[in-house]
Amino acid sequence: MKRILLTGCRGMLAHDFLRVQSDQFEIFWFDRADLDICDVAAVESRVREIRPQAIFNCAAYTNVDEAEDAGRKANFDVNALGVFYLATVAQKCGIDFVTVSTDYVFDGTREAGYDEDAVPNPINAYGLSKYLGETLARQACENAIVVRTSWLYGWAPYRKGNQPGTFKNFVNTMLRLSESRDELRVVNDQFGSPTYAADLSLAIGEILRNPERFRWEILHLSNETPDSGISWFDFAAEIFRQADIRIRLIPCASDEYPTKAVRPKFSKMRNGSAIRLGDWKEGLEGYFSR
Ligand SMILES: NC(=O)c1ccc[n+]([C@@H]2O[C@H](COP(=O)([O-])OP(=O)(O)OC[C@H]3O[C@@H](n4cnc5c(N)ncnc54)[C@H](OP(=O)(O)O)[C@@H]3O)[C@@H](O)[C@H]2O)c1
Repeated sequence: MKRILLTGCRGMLAHDFLRVQSDQFEIFWFDRADLDICDVAAVESRVREIRPQAIFNCAAYTNVDEAEDAGRKANFDVNALGVFYLATVAQKCGIDFVTVSTDYVFDGTREAGYDEDAVPNPINAYGLSKYLGETLARQACENAIVVRTSWLYGWAPYRKGNQPGTFKNFVNTMLRLSESRDELRVVNDQFGSPTYAADLSLAIGEILRNPERFRWEILHLSNETPDSGISWFDFAAEIFRQADIRIRLIPCASDEYPTKAVRPKFSKMRNGSAIRLGDWKEGLEGYFSR
């Protein structure tokens, strides 16, 4: 079995990866307390101790709004410098490095969506830090593989009275809000592709098993959506349909809910690789069957 060093193990993607891939790889997982990716000496010492064949980086700063002000430094430190340090150590030790990036590296002006070689133009601090991380990783490590994904949800659906262990994500937010509301206004002018973290984890497993096919590549891995993608409103409607919850949904514009960080309007990423994730509705069914 391949040995994998996984960072950021308390996060949402890490939880699903560990759940679906633990019998496929020998995984050595670390949370921030045991391995801070911003401490390059600690990263090198862990890699020399464990001797993995690959690092899979699930550590990230993911608070998109806080990244604009209070989290500005942490955002840059983790998503740009931390990723660079991991890539540097991977290069030095001659091992593979897989890291995860985002659709928010794009400006959202392309209704037709973005191919892997489209030029990023981030419009918020989080997107900028992730783009820097991608670039530094590929600059530092010839084996770096960047997996961009979008609108991620995973681990376990919110259930009444069962809050511990569930992550904050769009699906869980909708389910939680529906407990106290008869109607919900949901943004209908941002389009993208939701992604179930377990589906993404299976795809990343394929990459880690065959890294020679993907080295130095950027991959766009999200669940499949039609045309320009779906809106948050469409996503919410499907969530409530599958959860069998009756609620009045009202489409609204994003400027009704101003946020610190601006978000791209169209951020669907087109996948030109041989690795496919399933249809977005099937991804959601998989999540609800947990
Ligand atoms: N969530 C989305 O909608 C989405 C969309 C597109 C792409 N992505 C990307 O997908 C990846 C996984 O996202 P996620 O939603 O699973 O993230 P997450 O749940 O926020 O998990 C990130 C983990 O990284 C840890 N971390 C932060 N700083 C660290 C450091 N310096 N050293 C080690 N660990 C550190 C965090 O620990 P603490 O809990 O201690 O802070 C947290 O457990 C990220 O690269 C993210 O940018 C996410």
